[in-house]
Amino acid sequence: MVPMTIRKISRMGHPILRQPAAPVEDPTADSIKRLVLDMIETMEDAQGVGLAAPQVYESLRLVMFHAIEEPVAPESAPLIILINPQIDILTDEMEEDWEGCLSVPGLRGLVPRYTHISYSGVDPDGHLIAREARGFHARVVQHECDHLDGILYPQRMTDLSRLMFESESRHWDLPAVDDKV
Ligand code: NI
Repeated sequence: MVPMTIRKISRMGHPILRQPAAPVEDPTADSIKRLVLDMIETMEDAQGVGLAAPQVYESLRLVMFHAIEEPVAPESAPLIILINPQIDILTDEMEEDWEGCLSVPGLRGLVPRYTHISYSGVDPDGHLIAREARGFHARVVQHECDHLDGILYPQRMTDLSRLMFESESRHWDLPAVDDKV
């Protein structure tokens, strides 16, 4: 059993978060399995519910997230590992909700996202994953896949007056739930 390593998380301003990530050529490679294990360890240590490879300084198209279908608690929702993900938007409807990001520590913002999507990709065993997602599940997938295109959530905001420090979010009656991705 190879020991897992908690990796450093890249933060807004580092160029790796602004560039498009490269496709993973062999999703079943040992180096990818190792990266996945390290990312799980890193995400759990940081109490996040999602993580993209560029957030651990690997410019590869690989994301992971807990597939949260309310009202299941985030950390108990199944973990999906998605390599070379593809998203299809299934609605014109967008909804605003609060997001946080491990690469934008201490901040929260109100971000519009599509409410209904499908997504596909492969897992580290090479198995095809294809699912539909709504609500928070759809939001997390859009947030993570944006990381692979060099986009952070503040770039998706339409009203930057709703970008704020978490320590000030008490003024907005926000839930205390930690759902950074
Ligand atoms: Ni993020």
